[in-house]
Amino acid sequence: MSFMMIAIDGPAGAGKGTLARHLAHIYHLNHLDTGLLYRAVALKMVEGSEDFADKEAAIRAASSIRAVDLKSSSLRDEAIGNLASEIAPFPEVRALLLNFQRDFAKHTSSRKQGVILDGRDIGVVVLPEAPCKIYVTASSEVRAKRRLKELHQKGIDSIYEATLADIKARDARDRRRKVSPLRPAKDALILDTSELGIDDVIEKACHFVDSKYPEARKGALHSSE
Ligand code: DC
Repeated sequence: MSFMMIAIDGPAGAGKGTLARHLAHIYHLNHLDTGLLYRAVALKMVEGSEDFADKEAAIRAASSIRAVDLKSSSLRDEAIGNLASEIAPFPEVRALLLNFQRDFAKHTSSRKQGVILDGRDIGVVVLPEAPCKIYVTASSEVRAKRRLKELHQKGIDSIYEATLADIKARDARDRRRKVSPLRPAKDALILDTSELGIDDVIEKACHFVDSKYPEARKGALHSSE
């Protein structure tokens, strides 16, 4: 069977990370959440008390990112996600992180059937050659409600209006930047999850993956034996 390549993109809070984790498990793929790279740059800058408008500082932080930097639990903080989208427009930062992502895709373990990357520009820029591209989206109101629930579960106090405003501001930054803005690839399956539960999302995505890689499920069974 050919080496699998799946590209997942979408705005913040659409559920692309959850979907990517499930697909990685089902098809036995190596998964990279590429948002963590941008978050790791932002975290380094916070730790170094850097100015987020300082491009050179962002480039320095991006050039020092190693796989181990993606493990910090602080990366998941809402504030770090928002700061990540502030340094994401710098072309030099994107170029450095692009190298990391392509290396990951190239040097994946031979025990896996392939790779799955999720982010904003995977289908259009990072892995345009991926036969299987999925763009996961949902209305900003639904995404804000999901985010709010996650924040409350973590014991973080927030109100719906503020969460919705954050989501809209992040969307605007991710969609309007000049370099690699968030947009679906022409050949992507568009999955609007506003009205769907996670099981339905997984089922629709698997149907699409199976149409691109008809042997993949059989292979995943054998490789996990
Ligand atoms: O998916 P996330 O929330 O972890 O991403 C955080 C920010 O990182 C996002 O708002 C923009 C940036 N990002 C990007 O520009 N390109 C990617 N492939 C992934 C994330």
